Amino acid sequence: MLGNSQDAKFITEWARGCPDGSNRRFYGGPMPEGWKFIGYGSFRSVYLSPEGVAYKVQQYYSQYSWDNVGEYQNWQRIHRECEFPEGVRLPDLTLYENGGKPVVAMEYVRGMTLADFNRSCQGDEQDKYRRYRGLMVECGYGFNLLDMHEENVMVDEESGDLVVIDIQM
Ligand SMILES: Nc1ncnc2c1ncn2[C@@H]1O[C@H](COP(=O)(O)OP(=O)(O)OP(=O)(O)O)[C@@H](O)[C@H]1O
Ligand SMILES: [Mg+2]
Repeated sequence: MLGNSQDAKFITEWARGCPDGSNRRFYGGPMPEGWKFIGYGSFRSVYLSPEGVAYKVQQYYSQYSWDNVGEYQNWQRIHRECEFPEGVRLPDLTLYENGGKPVVAMEYVRGMTLADFNRSCQGDEQDKYRRYRGLMVECGYGFNLLDMHEENVMVDEESGDLVVIDIQM
């Protein structure tokens, strides 16, 4: 188990509870003590808890939008059915039901998204970038994921592994 249900509930209520009715807490700004804003995509914002776990909070919930549940199911399916290319992994993940507002707790990956790696790499590193880019495309097909792009994979700064951090679709 990663994280805990209290933190999952706390950060969901905080993110969704802007006093002025805006949803600016999905896009950063001052955080509760000990928490950090990590980033956002089209559907979710990601926050780092005081104990170092990444929590993904959905901006919307509807019968058509089960992103965090979908991510958990994909995570299980990929581990059950798929082969991992050498140097690729998925982060550890736990789903919290959170009273109908499901939250994903995910291992926090230290490193850069492939998009940032692409922007910052120079010289020989550009070959590395091309190799990572090829692995990313291979994972899209191999894991049957539709939403593969360079903000959805990260380069683990310690191991150099490619880590798929967005597996919702
Ligand atoms: N486990 C993690 N460790 C470190 N950073 C992360 C992690 N998960 C997400 N991030 C950062 O937060 C960003 C948004 O997360 P994520 O891609 O899950 O959101 P999303 O709304 O599902 O994105 P999309 O627009 O691709 O659907 C990522 O691009 C990445 O920069
Ligand atoms: Mg994403």
